[in-house]
Amino acid sequence: MDHGTTLTQFIIEEQRRIPGATGDFTSLLNDILTACKKIACAVNRGGLIGILGSADTENVQGETQKKLDIISNDVMINSLEWTGHLAGMASEEMDDPLSIPAMYPKGKYLILFDPLDGSSSIDVNVSVGTIFSILRCPEGVKEPKVEDFLQPGTQQVCAGYAIYGPTTMLVMTSGHGVNGFTLDRSIGEFILTHSDMKIPADTQEFAINMSNQRFWDVPIKRYVDECIEGKEGPRKKDFNMRWVASMVAEVHRILTRGGIFMYPLDSKLKAKGQTGKLRLMYEANPMSFIVEQAGGASSTGTARIMDLQPNDLHQRVPVVLGSKVEVEKVVAYHQEADKKAVA
Ligand code: AHG
Ligand code: MN
Ligand code: MN
Repeated sequence: MDHGTTLTQFIIEEQRRIPGATGDFTSLLNDILTACKKIACAVNRGGLIGILGSADTENVQGETQKKLDIISNDVMINSLEWTGHLAGMASEEMDDPLSIPAMYPKGKYLILFDPLDGSSSIDVNVSVGTIFSILRCPEGVKEPKVEDFLQPGTQQVCAGYAIYGPTTMLVMTSGHGVNGFTLDRSIGEFILTHSDMKIPADTQEFAINMSNQRFWDVPIKRYVDECIEGKEGPRKKDFNMRWVASMVAEVHRILTRGGIFMYPLDSKLKAKGQTGKLRLMYEANPMSFIVEQAGGASSTGTARIMDLQPNDLHQRVPVVLGSKVEVEKVVAYHQEADKKAVA
């Protein structure tokens, strides 16, 4: 029986199209797949093996860690550190980058990951995921330091996420479009089910945490107000709203049927001294690469996210991503508000 194209087969065939490719990248992706399958297993068994709930520890960003945050982070490290394809790793859950232990060979890539995105909702059984971003280690660097990881999103070699939902899927790009693979548990392989995913340019669905409305800046307030005014308002069409509080689930929905996702910088975050909610290196950059490759757009509201020069491994940024026409509208509203402020 033909089960279809496996992800391994897909990436090997892609590799054959790149002259001089050594297979290193293909092997690295395979190791990531294995890690995601292990995390999918842990997430799936959840309460059965007593791994739901908090771990009573905090990460570098002062967020309470879930047991599954720590388990997923350990799975990523244990699956990737020994393989010889990486020069270093950085994770949302670790203060500093992790060096490859001396007993293992070093490779030419760097990986950054959010081991379990949406984990604050893990106990209520919604879709969560793993997000990853792959960069080249700068030439000649043997022991990568923080600054070696601080490359703009445009430098990403590959980005992807695994989503642990009703089915486990892996969605990735290496700069030639976006493809989605579904885990067939009967054979333990990811099978190509969503080839060349595209985000429709227009949408009638927005995603934002409405409870923060009173803290928003003018452009975001204006955009959302107009969506809510629907057919009677300036947009002349009704909008629908979704908020899963799990970025992987929101991005996956947008890749599937369009939409816009926003986590803006608001006065509540500013009061805490934060520059946004979502993390540039582990969330915003990889998701922006995927969204742009699927024909969508991704911005802070004033700048393309992938053009930002990172200044900190755990930097946070405002995020507006999804259907191009809608993202451009939000950007235009920011420009208009800036003009008014100057006038
Ligand atoms: P994480 O679980 O990795 O900390 O990320 C959660 C993020 C993101 O996935 C989601 O969009 C957002 O936080 C939800 O924020 P609110 O709880 O403020 O809605
Ligand atoms: Mn996250
Ligand atoms: Mn996380």
